[in-house]
Amino acid sequence: MSATRHFLTLLDFSPQELQQLIQRGIEMKREHRAGKDQRAFPGTSLAMIFSKSSTRTRVSFEAGIAHLGGQAMFLSPQDTQLGRGEPIEDSARVISSMVDIVVIRTFGHDIAQRFAANSKVPVINALTDDYHPCQLLADMQTYVEHRGSIAGKSVCWVGDGNNMCQSYINAARQFDFELRIACPPGFEPKAELLEANSDRVHIEHDPMVAARGCDLLVTDVWASMGQEEEQLERAKQFKPYQINSALMGEAAGDALYMHCLPAHRGEEISAQLMDAPDTVIWDEAENRLHAQKALMETLLLANRA
Ligand code: CP
Ligand code: NVA
Repeated sequence: MSATRHFLTLLDFSPQELQQLIQRGIEMKREHRAGKDQRAFPGTSLAMIFSKSSTRTRVSFEAGIAHLGGQAMFLSPQDTQLGRGEPIEDSARVISSMVDIVVIRTFGHDIAQRFAANSKVPVINALTDDYHPCQLLADMQTYVEHRGSIAGKSVCWVGDGNNMCQSYINAARQFDFELRIACPPGFEPKAELLEANSDRVHIEHDPMVAARGCDLLVTDVWASMGQEEEQLERAKQFKPYQINSALMGEAAGDALYMHCLPAHRGEEISAQLMDAPDTVIWDEAENRLHAQKALMETLLLANRA
């Protein structure tokens, strides 16, 4: 059997594979809505290791594997030996000998990498401090559904240079768009990631300048999970970094805005835009389900080959 394939960042798949994944997510959504039986993987077990909170990711993976005919087990560090110091490598060897696919949400990206390096089955990154690639599958699917191909478009990231922003940098490369990052000084994404993508990714600290003519604006919380104690200080520095109607006024006339959620109305996004009847944010959240079903299908099939 060929080497086990994982999905730890968008760079684990080629641009062509990512395009296929998005199209398959769109198709699986249509099939699901039409009531089609999608149980192509009966008896499949999914282990879900979550060291951070989650609503969307947990529910979408649990529902998704059930749609595919399999079942999920939710593993928190509190209830497993992971929380009592069993090495991640040993845990990976044992867990992957019993299940068919693993989803992991954790802190350091190296933890997901070390798990994958010792896993016999595909490992999916469900968010680390550095990347959140599953969210990008849903975001890209949502853009394609509403506006068609994102290739050649301009995207403006508004806010922290965090795991979502860094995933957008990878997406800019893989989906071929320009990315302008409007972050407060001192909150830039990793320098090496910026350098490696300097042909299409730029920092522009002024959000009103960065948003000009953009096709998509994206934001995320000012303080991510694990940064709770920085919330008050960040709230001061991030105040100008809000997606609201004034900022959307700078963007292209048909520009969309997205947010991975959970959102803080009145901080990174205005309540008016969050609650706008035509927002695509709820489609974006729902698409986590469809995109990840396509992802699990692809990885399960690849691991069978
Ligand atoms: N967007 C996202 O990953 O949400 P959860 O933290 O609720 O899973
Ligand atoms: N940047 C956020 C994303 C939550 C889905 C966090 O890491 O908490």
